[in-house]
Amino acid sequence: MNQQPIGVFDSGLGGLTVVKELMKILPHENIVYFGDTGRVPYGTRGKETIIEYAKQDIQFLQHHQVKMIIAACGTVSAVLPKEYSSHLQQPYTGVVIPSAQAACAKTKTGHIGVLGTSATIRSGAYGKAIRTILPKAVVTGIACPLFVPLVENGYINRDNQVTRMVAEDYLKPIIGTDLDTLILGCTHFPIIKEIIGDILGKGVKLIDSGYETARTAAAMLSRENMLLNSEQPGNRSFYVSDSIETFTENATIFLNEEITGSVEHHVW
Ligand code: DGL
Repeated sequence: MNQQPIGVFDSGLGGLTVVKELMKILPHENIVYFGDTGRVPYGTRGKETIIEYAKQDIQFLQHHQVKMIIAACGTVSAVLPKEYSSHLQQPYTGVVIPSAQAACAKTKTGHIGVLGTSATIRSGAYGKAIRTILPKAVVTGIACPLFVPLVENGYINRDNQVTRMVAEDYLKPIIGTDLDTLILGCTHFPIIKEIIGDILGKGVKLIDSGYETARTAAAMLSRENMLLNSEQPGNRSFYVSDSIETFTENATIFLNEEITGSVEHHVW
């Protein structure tokens, strides 16, 4: 029985796709979320800056005595060196390995696609993780930087023509190929998975990084005997480095429900 909260962070709102799944599968767990909304996006920045920001985010969560750290951000997961994350005092997971494992389990053709931010695709981290499991896999990465502001601004409805047009353009290189599995490798992207799915058709399985990461985190906590054995609904505390109001308003898009729990401002 471990009452300490699970720590989750992202550059902004995208990591809430992991929180949404965690609340479903571990409803009694306490969660502390940090969204670095004052410095989003991370995905267009250089590697050193992303690493520096990620380390600060992790220290913030550690300050809140978390029992586990989840980098609910494709960009951080792809760029943060393993030498750093594997030496944290708490169990750690990013989104890359859980998503790569799920994709490898699903693909039949061995051709897997990855949608991510520019920094994520540049890092090649998903390809590396996939080829560790399936050495002969063909991996096609596509940087989709415009998806982040579209999602953050609520351009998410299945019939949204702007997002659909952008998605059609990004997905052009993989339409009509033997690719059968596509990782939504940025935690913002599961929000528009219907639009992506409509364009690619049923033949392409979509891997939701939020869903896979929450499941991996739950399995890790269970293995380490660190789950909270309680009947009470968990406490949720959210911290952001920019406007509380904007975060609270937009969080509904990601959580599919009104935010419950406290939202506080963190000044760097
Ligand atoms: N949620 C971030 C990710 O998963 C994307 C947003 C950003 O560029 O900071 O990569």
